[in-house]
Order: sequence, then C-alpha cells, then structure tokens
Amino acid sequence: MIEGISREIIKRLGLHIFVETGTDMGETVAEVAGWFSEMNPAFGKISDYVTTGARYYSLDSKPIRYPVFQNAGESLFNIFTVDIDSHSYENAKKLFNTNKNIKVFQDNSAEFLQKFIDNKVFKGEDTIFFLDAHWGKY
Ligand SMILES: C[S@@+](CC[C@H](N)C(=O)[O-])C[C@H]1O[C@@H](n2cnc3c(N)ncnc32)[C@H](O)[C@@H]1O
Repeated sequence: MIEGISREIIKRLGLHIFVETGTDMGETVAEVAGWFSEMNPAFGKISDYVTTGARYYSLDSKPIRYPVFQNAGESLFNIFTVDIDSHSYENAKKLFNTNKNIKVFQDNSAEFLQKFIDNKVFKGEDTIFFLDAHWGKY
C-alpha cells in the first residue's frame, strides 16, 4: 500500500501519470484514484464507495474502500496498473470499470514497462512509478 507522502510528491512535482507494477487487490489504485479525483475533476467524481474485506494475508489490514466514479471523462491524469496474476487482473478490471482513466493490464511487469516505454506512453516526465511487483514464483 502506498504511503501518503507520495501524494505530496505527486502534487509538488505536478505529476499526473501513475504507473504501478503489482496490482494485487487494487488498494493503492483505490487510494491514488481518490487523490487524482481531488486534483483533477476531469479524472472523475466519486459518487460512492464499495467496501470489501481486508487483505486475507495481513493481520493489520483494514477493509479496502474502492471508489465508484461518475462522469469520468478524458483526463490527463491516468493510472496504469499491471499484475501477472489473472485473478488480481480480473478483480481490478471489475473494481475500476467506472473510470476509463484507470487502465488495468495483465502482464509480467518487466515486459509491461518495456512496452510502456516503447509505445511512448512514457514521455520522460510527469510520471511516477510505484514498483511493487513481487511474490510467488514469477
Ligand atoms: C505486494 S503485492 C502488490 C500490492 C499493491 N501494489 C498495493 O499496494 O496494494 C505484489 C503483487 O505483485 C504481483 N507480481 C509478482 N510478480 C510479478 C511480475 N513479475 N509482474 C507483475 N506482477 C507481479 C503479485 O501477483 C502480487 O499481486
């Protein structure tokens, strides 16, 4: 889960593209989506939340609140998240399907990042990378 200090870094540096490797349950995506919604109304207005159980593998984990968006148009603010695990991917696709500025992928993070750079989605600026893909046999 991302720390609140990242919000300040994003704001102060005027970043608007968030790239996460390792989606897992989408907890960081939910958090950053809330920040982006406040920073840029075009990213999408939060109309509701869906709250689920905590992470099953962490005793300190609290229930996760996922924003539900209304009127999410085209925005310069975008979130890209990738996970190699099909369950994480399918779950996040459903959770964030009310906002087209949240783009969910299933891939190996190293290959995904290479494609991201090759496709020139990453223009060398305005992007923060949260590299959190680990665990398991990958
Ligand atoms: C610690 S969790 C990510 C937590 C999430 N970033 C958050 O803050 O809520 C690690 C995730 O990385 C994924 N993962 C592990 N190896 C990967 C790889 N090579 N490419 C993409 N995802 C990977 C796992 O499936 C797992 O869901």
